[in-house]
Amino acid sequence: MRRPWLSIAAAGLAALVGGQLAFTASATADAGAASGAQSYPADSLRALGARVGLRIGTAVNPDLLGTNARYTEITADQFSSVTPENAMKWESVEPTRGTYTWAKADKLVAFAAEHHQLVRGHTLVWHSQLPKWLSPDGFTTTFSNDEVKAILQKHIQDEVTHFRGSIWQWDVVNEAFDDNGQPRQTIWYKAWGGTGYIADAFRWAHAADPQALLFYNDYNLEFTGPKSNAVYAFVQTLQAQGVPIDGVGFQGHLSTQYGYPDLQNNLQRFAGLGLDVALTEVDVRTRTQPDHPNQPIDPLAPYAQESYWSRTVQACLAVQACISFTPWGFGDAYSWVPGWFRSPQEGAALLYDEQLNPKGQYFVVQQDLALASGAPHRAGPGAGRN
Ligand code: XIL
Repeated sequence: MRRPWLSIAAAGLAALVGGQLAFTASATADAGAASGAQSYPADSLRALGARVGLRIGTAVNPDLLGTNARYTEITADQFSSVTPENAMKWESVEPTRGTYTWAKADKLVAFAAEHHQLVRGHTLVWHSQLPKWLSPDGFTTTFSNDEVKAILQKHIQDEVTHFRGSIWQWDVVNEAFDDNGQPRQTIWYKAWGGTGYIADAFRWAHAADPQALLFYNDYNLEFTGPKSNAVYAFVQTLQAQGVPIDGVGFQGHLSTQYGYPDLQNNLQRFAGLGLDVALTEVDVRTRTQPDHPNQPIDPLAPYAQESYWSRTVQACLAVQACISFTPWGFGDAYSWVPGWFRSPQEGAALLYDEQLNPKGQYFVVQQDLALASGAPHRAGPGAGRN
């Protein structure tokens, strides 16, 4: 089921002239919202995406908003959707049982409202980044099954209620299946004795905020295989039970060491179930120098990365139900990749370099978005003749 949501006015008109973006509109485009005060560049990713109704998002660290001027400016100028990279995760919002710490997430929600951005809530049910009082590892807990059920219900009700009215899409359940397509044996799975926790989580979230679009989110759904097939079958069982699921998020953590996935087919088949789809955490990592983890080893790697970015944004553009395209941050200095993928070392995964200068990968994404609403028709003698 899909629900309507706000759309912003289309931004400035772009045309490609001599390989350069040339703008027939003023240098900035009004977001069209009530105040009229908010503006952003007409050649920004958000402005170009808006011309085809596609939200361009980013993961955000709220600590950097207002403290890092360039980071703050890019977040506001380039993106029409934001996702808290960590600030809405359970360990962040309830590090001590019964004491909520919403400040960082609230700061991001306020920033988004000020800059006419929508918010992807991330994430309510996961096995990672749980508070220590609940589980050290996501697979063990000292609480009984009944206690675990009550704790999860309260968590979902409290967090969704806190942000009610401010969230466009919630990642209700994150990464519930492994790469073999088996449900992970998390504390949630064990407490329910199966995957029944997923249906309950969606129902509780929907009751707390009926306007929010509710997503299942996972990685490697981009590839056709056991995992994508299992999730595809599973969401149909949710739909058959009348569970209020609106969409499936494809994280899109890609690496040039693997072949490019058949992403568009997978987006299309999930869309065929009547669901929205979204790219939720895109980055394209490559092999890098261990002592300079954002320096590719292969000097040609950035061109492979450009291809992966371009094909990913094009796959989303080609599927009408793909409603947002969200890279997992925008500056290589702030990316989770170098710290996470260390054997072999990978990095350089985002659209901006360590100094927050746009890379070639930014410009291919910008160009794809610019062309998405149609290349200018040829004119002049001979144009259009066979
Ligand atoms: C990552 C963050 O980027 C890191 O800062 C944090 O240390 C670990 O989590 N899939 C997800 C995201 O759904 O929440 C993860 O984010 C990356 C993988």
